[in-house]
Parts: sequence; C-alpha cells; structure tokens
Amino acid sequence: MKTPILAFTALLSLMASAAKYSVSSKPFGEVDGNPVELYTFTNESGASVSITNYGGTVTSLIVPDQHGKLGDVVLGFDTVAEYVEKSPYFGCITGRYANRIAKGKFKIDGKEYTVATNNEPNHLHGGLKGFDKKIWKARIGNRGNTPSLTLTYTSPDGEEGYPGALSTTVTYTWTQNNALRIRYKATTDKPTVLNLTNHSYFNLAGAGSKTVLDHNLQINADRYNPIDATSIPTGIAPVKGTPFDFNKSTRIGDRIEQKDEQLQNGIGYDHNYVLKDKRDEKLAVAAIVTEPDSGRVLTVSTTEPGIQFYSGNFLDGPKGKGGKEYPHRSALCLESQTFPDSPNQKTFPSPILRPGETYTQTTIYKLSTSK
Ligand code: BGC
Repeated sequence: MKTPILAFTALLSLMASAAKYSVSSKPFGEVDGNPVELYTFTNESGASVSITNYGGTVTSLIVPDQHGKLGDVVLGFDTVAEYVEKSPYFGCITGRYANRIAKGKFKIDGKEYTVATNNEPNHLHGGLKGFDKKIWKARIGNRGNTPSLTLTYTSPDGEEGYPGALSTTVTYTWTQNNALRIRYKATTDKPTVLNLTNHSYFNLAGAGSKTVLDHNLQINADRYNPIDATSIPTGIAPVKGTPFDFNKSTRIGDRIEQKDEQLQNGIGYDHNYVLKDKRDEKLAVAAIVTEPDSGRVLTVSTTEPGIQFYSGNFLDGPKGKGGKEYPHRSALCLESQTFPDSPNQKTFPSPILRPGETYTQTTIYKLSTSK
C-alpha cells in the first residue's frame, strides 16, 4: 500500500510546483528576415530570466535585493536589432571557441586550420559569425519539475574555419531558488576544438549602476594564466602575492589600479583562473560575488577547469535597456571555460572533441542575498 500513496503524493506535489512557474514567449523582432523569440521563465517568487534564441542570449535576470526589491542584474538591450548592431557579447552563448586562439591558427592531428583573426592578431569568441550571432532552434521543456529552454544549433563542417559538423544543445533551467542552470552538449563528425560558455555581464546593484569596483569577489583558484600583450596565455602562474589572488573575498577595486604588468597598467582583469580540484569534472563552486548595497550574491558553479574574470574593461558607455548607459567597468563577466588558446598550448587541458565523444559542460549562476 505504501508505494501507491507515496507515488500519488509525489504526483500532486509535482503538479502543484509545476503550476508555480509561468513560462511565456513573445516575438523579439527579426534577424536577416527571420523571426526570433524572447522566452521568459518566472518562478514562484516573481524572479525571472528572459532568453532569446538569437545567440541563446540571456537578456534579463530579475532577482530580489536584500529588501525583496526586484532588479535586473545583467546588461542587455531592449531590441534584437541592438544586439545585432553593437553587442559586446552581452549574455550570449559564445562558441565554437570562446576566448582567444593565437593568430587564428591551430593544428589537430598535424593538420592546420585557420580561423578569423577578429581580435587582431587573434581569434576571439568563435569568429566573425559565432554562436552568439546564430538563430537557435528553441523548445520549451521540463527538466524534472522545472521548466527549461532547450536550444539547438548544428554548425556545418568548416563554418568559421572549424572542422566537423557540430551538433550543439544548450539547456537553460530557471529554478525556484533563483539559479540559472546552463547545460551544454555537443557532438562532432570530425575531430574539432570546442569551448562553450555564457557571456553574461553582471552588475549586482542593477544593470546601469556605477562600476563594479565595490563588488567583492572570491575565486577558488591558486593559479591563473598570465597573458602577453595580445591577451594570449603565456603559461600558468601562482596568484599568491599578486593582485590576482581572490582566494579571500576582496573588493574588485582594491588592486585593479596597481602598477602590475598583468593588469596591463590600468586596463584591468581579463584572465583565466585555473580552478582548484577540477580533475574530476564535478560541479564545484568557482566564484562568489557580493554587492554590499543591494546585499545580492552571485555564486558560480561549474564543471569546467577554468573561469575568465573580465572586469568590463572595454565597456565604453553603450545605451542599454531602458536607455541606461553602461560605463567603463560597470559589469563583470565570469565565463566558465577550458583555458584560452588551449588548441596551441600543450600543457593545458585538451579542447579537442572527437567523433563518438560527447562534450558536456554545466554552469550554474545562482542569485541570492546575504541577509
Ligand atoms: C574577453 C575580453 C573581451 C570581452 C568582450 C571577454 O571574454 O576576455 O577580452 O573584450 O570578452 O568581447
């Protein structure tokens, strides 16, 4: 008798909690004559995430501060036309290879491939028309008890110079406790290189607020990748005794202006961190950001070996949602990833995906408050 009663109770609670979400979609304009949609997932507390299938882009993430007041904590635009025209990768899926490949060249099994040098002299974020600029096929589904958005895109063999037809699936889930879970999966029909991430720009005081220099950051890493003058890693070095040590939660502004060759004399942070204990590819906390005024906290967990901390160095005041300006350093990115330029760096984890293998990565951006 026990089993059927339990099953019935479970079913009831499943139905009840499923009803506590609202999922909606609406047209978000056109790209090259093709319609794109905007999907919004709102949980029981009223917190929501909006995602468009143009670039798989997270356009808003609306969560409470310590007084329960809702605010949007990611940078973005009101129209898809602005994303097409001027987005510095706001909120998008970045691929096929997020971050840089030196001089746009790499070899797999002795064969050389050339990709666009769209960030002279290097390749950046998948090239001229990367995954951030593609229209993804979208499907609303249900993962466990939680509604999800599954986006798929098949990148043809040779697209942007990368070998192999790549079938990619990205699933976004918005939980009742304000966690945005992103699961990536990909398979290929030829050996290829791959590095997928999400490029959300966060300001926990609210998008359009002043700089993130008063945000505190903690990163679970003892080592990072120093870079050359073109932002290509030169190896792996300890963070100890440098402005890159965020093992203890530290105000971002405290050391950003220090005379330090790696901070490129005032440009700021734009480096990959080698996360601790990542050999087993288990989900682990990579970074925690806190913002004192709002009391908001962002906890980033990932299965990836690295995370790029970018302090919004090149934001130059574009007008975003609601006409708000996004000045220099008014957001930060924490991009879970394999290490930059891995296709050319033998000491880094291999970014090669072969036929028969499945690439997977999971990253969770969880929003909460300290009080
Ligand atoms: C890179 C930065 C770049 C930014 C926007 C980050 O992932 O590391 O160098 O400016 O993306 O493209």
